[in-house]
Order: sequence, then C-alpha cells, then structure tokens
Amino acid sequence: MKKIKVCVFGLGYIGLPTSLLLADNGFKVFGVDTNEKIVHSLKNKKTHIKEPQINKLLTKNIDNNQFIPQINPISADIFLIAVPTPFFKDKDSQINNIPFPNIEYVEKAAEMISKVCEPNSLIIIESTSPVGTSEKIFNLIIKKTKLDRTNLKLAYCPERVLPGNIINELINNNRVIGGINKESSIAAKKFYKVFCKGEIRITDSKTAELVKLTENSYRDINIAFANEISIICNEENINTRELIDIANAHPRVNILKPGCGVGGHCIAVDPYFIAAKFPEISLLIQSARKVNQNKTFWCKEIIKKEYSKIKSTSNKKPVIGILGLSYKPNVGDLRESPALKIFNSLKEEGFKTIACEPNNELNEENFIYNLKNVLTDSDLLVRLVDHDIFNSINFEKYNFIDFCYLKK
Ligand SMILES: NC(=O)c1ccc[n+]([C@@H]2O[C@H](COP(=O)([O-])OP(=O)(O)OC[C@H]3O[C@@H](n4cnc5c(N)ncnc54)[C@H](O)[C@@H]3O)[C@@H](O)[C@H]2O)c1
Repeated sequence: MKKIKVCVFGLGYIGLPTSLLLADNGFKVFGVDTNEKIVHSLKNKKTHIKEPQINKLLTKNIDNNQFIPQINPISADIFLIAVPTPFFKDKDSQINNIPFPNIEYVEKAAEMISKVCEPNSLIIIESTSPVGTSEKIFNLIIKKTKLDRTNLKLAYCPERVLPGNIINELINNNRVIGGINKESSIAAKKFYKVFCKGEIRITDSKTAELVKLTENSYRDINIAFANEISIICNEENINTRELIDIANAHPRVNILKPGCGVGGHCIAVDPYFIAAKFPEISLLIQSARKVNQNKTFWCKEIIKKEYSKIKSTSNKKPVIGILGLSYKPNVGDLRESPALKIFNSLKEEGFKTIACEPNNELNEENFIYNLKNVLTDSDLLVRLVDHDIFNSINFEKYNFIDFCYLKK
C-alpha cells in the first residue's frame, strides 16, 4: 500500500516529536526546517530537544528512512505547520505596552507549501495563532496556487503538550480541530486518529484558534493569582506554602504554585494574541501579564536586599548563586524564562552572579552549570526553578532564598 507522505514545517519542540511519532505510525515524514544546523544534526541522529523517547525514535526512524530531515519542502499528501509564532519585541509594534503577534513564520511556511502542494492536499496549522490566521493562510495559498477553494483542505489543530512529557501527551491528550470547512475537519480528524488516543472535538477554525489562546490565558491568570498572593504573604511575614496548602483544603479552591514569574514559548506569549486585538476588553488578561512580569522584577529586588545584608557583614563582594535558569522545572528550555531574566539583569547591574542550569546541555548562555561550583562559591543561594536535582541540597547550610516556596 502507498505510504501517506507528510511534510512537517519546523523541527522544534513540537514539530520534531510530532514528525517522529508520525513516522513511527507508518507515515513517510519529510521534516523541513529553515535552520541548516538543525537539519544537519538530525540527519546525524542528534537533537537539541531533550525529551523522553526522542533519541530512540530519532535513531530508529532515520535508520529505517521513515523520517527525512531536509531544508526544502517536498510535495506531500499532508502539510503540517509547527513553526514559531512569537510576538514583535520592538516598541514600535506595541500599543499600550501590548506586543503584537508575529505570524511571519507561518506565512513563510504557507508560501513554501504553495510551491509544492497539489489539489486535495490537507494543510494543518499547529502553531499557536491569532484568531483569523487559518482563514488568512487558506486565502494566501489559494491565491498563490490558483487552486479552486473546494480543492484544498486546511484545519487548525493546536498543540497542548507539556514539555518534558511531549510524546506521551501527543498520544493521550484530547484535541480540538477547527477546519476551514467540514471536509477539512473530517480529513484532519482521520489523520490524528491514527496516533491520538484522546477525544478529538471538531469545531470551526476561529473557535479552535481562540480555544488555544483562552487555555493559555487561563493558566497565566491563575499563576498570576498565586504570584500576587506570594508577595502579599511576604509583606505579612506569612509562609506562602503553608497558606496555599491550607487554602487548597477548601473543596473548591485550587491555587497554583507561585514562582519567579511566567516564561516559556506559550503562557508568557499567547495572552498577548488576545490582548493585542482587544486592548479595551482584555483587562484581566493584561493585568495577569503585568502581575507575572512584576513578580520577576520583585524577586530580583528581594535578592538585592538580601545581598546588601550579607555585604554589610562581609569584607568581600558576595557571590550570588542562582539555581535554575529554565522557564520551568526539569527542562532546559530558556525561552522567555523569568529566571534567566533575573540572572542576566543581576549581572548587568554588576552583581557577581553564577548559575547552574543542569538541563541545558548546550550551555547556550555560557553560564557556569556545575552545581558543585555554584554551591561552593556562592555567598547567597537563590532557587529560582524547582529542578528535582536540587532536592538533595541541604539548604540549611546556606544563606538561601527560595522562590519555589517549598518549605512550610
Ligand atoms: N513548545 C511548546 O511547548 C508548545 C506547546 C504548544 C504549542 N506550541 C506552539 O507550537 C509552535 C512551534 O513551537 P516550538 O516550541 O516547536 O518552536 P521551536 O522554536 O522549538 O521550533 C520551531 C522551528 O521552526 C523552524 N522554522 C521557522 N520558520 C520555518 C519555516 N518557514 N519552515 C520550516 N521551519 C521553520 C525554526 O528553525 C525552528 O527550528 C509555536 O506556535 C508554539 O507557540 C508550542
């Protein structure tokens, strides 16, 4: 039987695991990435993405020729877009400090698809996108290919996976599919059914786009609440962990864990995709973003206060040792990481700061990552990320600040 060909655009945290799972489920997968280095290392069975099962799946599917990484797209039955959708960082692209979504990578991928797609191809957008993107991309491809609108299928199918458990969640999570029309939804559902065991709900593309943005805005708002409460606890000299544990004993209360802010490629970004379009309405969403950003700034100020106390009793410049730089526990992903922002900002302000990030093997930021060095050389130890590896440290021995709030 002829193998179904899938061409995946973007071989990052989403595109690579998805490609490998598809290859493992019998699809012939062509993985396209504009970054030559990534394509080259994948061909050599090496990846920068640290995820359970990835290395094994990569070796297996490169060896059996089911997964072929390359720079240029190829004609296929299905095209899947998993490229970045960041926001514009320059001030000119902001109104009221709300950054605007940047869908240029998706548009570029769509242009690449236009050159190779044929009648009846199915195009799937997995990249988190502002409402209306699917229709925009559909129209762009129709215009470029001059295909009849009834001869092209496109569905928006956002990704909900949790980094650190991606393969497992790709298989087991529930999904939402928003087709540009009914035929597109049905075709996309048939495709996902091959490897997805979760419930697959069908809706229109605009609803599916807003579902994804709503989910991440909801998370941001709930984390903001925990972060705000943690600052209030500090002002009142109340133990944050104890307070949250007691409050959560209420049957209808479930306060999340506070931290040093919110980071990553999704929760710290996606709420702006709603806020940019509805600045007058999205007041809660905007407040949550501000609270979470303020928490990062606040943590840095607390570190500086503690530093000054230590310095006043010491005859040398104290060293600040940061534990964890990634945006969440047990991963090495540094994107939009509040911990990295604190580290960089302290360094910029002239504080002698060293850090350990045990999960970022590429050592992207040239930080000192040896835990032993950080423990030995620091006068003030600050836990910013709750990596498991830090659990064995006896913090009683150190001047220590914990922004993971683990001790009651
Ligand atoms: N990382 C997550 O946990 C997560 C979860 C849910 C949704 N998402 C969404 O999925 C999308 C992808 O995120 P990611 O984390 O995988 O990003 P990533 O940065 O890890 O990977 C994206 C890859 O796309 C490549 N690329 C850029 N333009 C391209 C093009 N035109 N053609 C081919 N390749 C191109 C880049 O070189 C990069 O390797 C984003 O919209 C993100 O918001 C991510």
